[in-house]
Formats: sequence, C-alpha cells, structure tokens
Amino acid sequence: MSSQPRLDEPENFFLSGNWAPVDEEHVDRDLEVIGEIPADLDGYFMRIGPNPTYVADVSAYHIFDGDGMIHQVEFREGKATYRNRFVETAGLLKERDKGGWIWKGMNQTMADMAAGNPLPEGGQFKDLVNTAMIVHANKFYGLMEGGTPHEMGLPDLDTIRRDDFDGKLNHPFTAHPKVDIKTGEMMTFGYSPVPPFLTYSVIDKNSRLVHTAQINIPKAVMMHDCAITERFTIFLDLPITFDFERVAKGESMLAWEPENGTRLGVMPRMGEDADIKWFEIDSCMMFHVANAWEDGDEVVLLGCRANRTDVANATTNAADESLDMRDQLALLTEWRMNLATGEVIERNIDPNLYCEFPRINDHLAGRPSRYAYLAGIDAELSGTPFTSEIKYDHTDGSMTVHPLGEGRKGGEAIFAPRKGGTSEDDGYVILFTWDEPNQQSECVVIDAQNFEADPIARIKIPHRVPFGFHASWVPNAQ
Ligand SMILES: [Fe+2]
Repeated sequence: MSSQPRLDEPENFFLSGNWAPVDEEHVDRDLEVIGEIPADLDGYFMRIGPNPTYVADVSAYHIFDGDGMIHQVEFREGKATYRNRFVETAGLLKERDKGGWIWKGMNQTMADMAAGNPLPEGGQFKDLVNTAMIVHANKFYGLMEGGTPHEMGLPDLDTIRRDDFDGKLNHPFTAHPKVDIKTGEMMTFGYSPVPPFLTYSVIDKNSRLVHTAQINIPKAVMMHDCAITERFTIFLDLPITFDFERVAKGESMLAWEPENGTRLGVMPRMGEDADIKWFEIDSCMMFHVANAWEDGDEVVLLGCRANRTDVANATTNAADESLDMRDQLALLTEWRMNLATGEVIERNIDPNLYCEFPRINDHLAGRPSRYAYLAGIDAELSGTPFTSEIKYDHTDGSMTVHPLGEGRKGGEAIFAPRKGGTSEDDGYVILFTWDEPNQQSECVVIDAQNFEADPIARIKIPHRVPFGFHASWVPNAQ
C-alpha cells in the first residue's frame, strides 16, 4: 500500500490531524496493555470510518466521501491483536488501477447531477462502505447508506463480496439496518433524491429478501437511521431535503428545510405505505436512535435529538454563523407515540449532557432496554468533541459520565455482553481513544457495571487509528 499518496491536508479539517487517513495495513499481535484484558472477553471490536485514497479536490472533500477502513482489536485468551484493512469496493479497486480519483465526492457529484454534467462510468456515486457494520445470518457486513452491503471476512477483514440479496435489493441500503435477534429478521431502507424517495425491505433469517414497500414522503430527504419494535418499523422523516432547483441557484442540493415538516412514521413490520401512522413532531435532526419498544398503546423511541443540522457542512443554509452552533449538538430524547390517540409526547432526558453515537445491548433492539451508552460531547470544543462516555439508565433517567482523560477523544463505543452474563449491563464497554498530546491510539475496555472506575484495560495500538464513524462487536462463536 505504500505507493498510495499520503494525505494530511490542513486546509480541510477532515483530512488533517487524527482525521487524516492512513495508508498502510497492519497486523500486530500481543499488544501492550495497561491493566488486564478480561479472560472472558472473546471476539472482535471494530470501528469503521472514511479513509480516502484519492481526493479530487481537497477543499471540497466531505467526511462522507472517504473509502472505508476497518480498525479491529481481536480479544482472545487475555491478549489483543490489532488489524486494519481497507474495504475493497469495486470503486476503490478501479481508482487504484487508474492511480487517481474517478469519483469527485458527494458535493461535486450532486452539483454535476443537477447541472447535467457527465458522470463517471460505473455510477453517479462511488460504492463506498465507510459508515457502519452489522452481523446478520452469520455474515459480517460493512455498510454505507448510499450503497450496497459488502460481506467482510473475520478475522482478516478481507472484502468477500457485494451482497444484493440474490438481485432482489432494488434500493440503497441504510448504514443502520436493525436486526431482531429473536426472529433473525433484518429491517432496512434506502432513500433517494429522485422518486421513489423511500423504500423499505425486510430480509429474513436465511438472507432472503422477503418484503419490499415504497413509502410516500412529501419530499426527498436524507434519512440516516430507523428503529424497530417487536411489531413495527419507525421511519424518521426529518427536514434535510434534496432539491435540484436549489443547485440551479448556486446553492447546495441538500438544505435544512423545517417548513417541510418533521414526522415519525410507525409501520407494521411487514406493512405497506397505507399502514403507516405518522406523528408530527417539532422540527429536529436525529442522526441516531438508541432503541425503540412498545409499551401498551405507545411506541417509545429513544434517540439523539438536535435542533437542526448542516450535515457536516453539506448544506449551505444551516451553517449560518449567526445561529447558535449548539443547536447542532444532540441531547438524548424520548418520544412516546400513542397509536390509539395519535398523540406524541417529547421529553428531553438531560438538557446539559450533549451526546451522540448511542448504543445498547444489541440483544434488546426493539424491546425495552434499561441502558444506553453514548459518546459524551464537550460543547466548548469544536471539531471532534467526544471527551467522555456516558451510561444512561432509563429507570431513573440518570447519566453516569466516564471522562476519557485530559487530551483524549473517543467516539462510538459498543457494549460487549460478558459470556454467561446475567443482566443487561453485565459486560464491557469498548471504544478507541486518541490521546492527542501523546499522539497515541488506544482501545479502552470499561466495566459496564463499574462505569465510573478507571478502565479495566487500555490496549496501546502501535499505529494511529484515525477518528471514524461506527463501531461493532462480533463475539467468537464458541
Ligand atoms: Fe450513523
């Protein structure tokens, strides 16, 4: 990989510092540990993120544009191994063959689409896989919302194949499908700037795509996450709209447009558009939900709500500096939607603790969960402000904070259940941290039931792990 250009471009925040990509792939065994790795921690902690190889225009590069790279720490018998690999999509392989960029990136491509300019052979958008990962039907997938899932191998993170579910997948596939552990079903959706704006699918426990429905929404919107309950799927129709006409006026195709309305849609799992109950709510942005479940006539949704967003500078109107930038930071929020009365009640959990990247014990997706784990945000910091990890307790609304330490930044953590665990939080919270003063990446393991204590183990990673998006935990089979 050493022939690839090394990118560190101070003029673009997302190509510099610990966002700068790395170009080498490594395997390092028996890593140095501060503390002790629990002997019963047996599996793979991974984080994926954008790691561009070729960039068409440094100033126009968007954080969503980078080729995917997965960073992994394998835990086995009290020892840790680090691996990192590119996700080798067809797009990346084509650019490697050429030795340069083919796709310009999100912002420039949308402008070209609107202007009718010629687009690259092989598609308008590069088939990126840089956002999240999921296990379904014993397959491990890398995901990105504009693309198609790619099956990845473990432990080696080799890119096995692009999976379109025997050709039945006819829409983009969100980075945040939801798997019902009890039924083995995976619920997914895709959005599009051209009709149909929203399409939903269910894939059964045997990887068969068994249901697809087109969903009517007023306008094309960017839709990043969804939620499930035992019987329902919940769609987030939030006002980040696509509009080709805006581009003709020299504006971004994406914009924050609260006048389009903000609504949550609750649809039976195998339902159709006509079955959806929509709940109008105050305009907001919610990149990520923590969980949802049913409680009598109510559907409860827990997620990270911000007043608005500029989608990391992808819109031209929401970044107005006269507005309070804290409006773009999220607070943990609960919505209770009453299916009998049509009423919805919104409740902010804690007005002072900004947070993102909510995760739960994944076995409880769609069912009542007591705990959530969130990346805490220091509102005084700009850039990448994840300076703590938070444990939320739904029974009393409490938020317990685990500071990451002076000069350290985190990101999404996962919950790894302890083998033989007896309660929801019996396990470990694991994340990557970046120690800015010491230029050191670590993988940190926290006891979920002793959350405020120092980490049980801090594994020193012998290479820099750039900041990224989502994390995943895949236990070993035995
Ligand atoms: Fe996400």
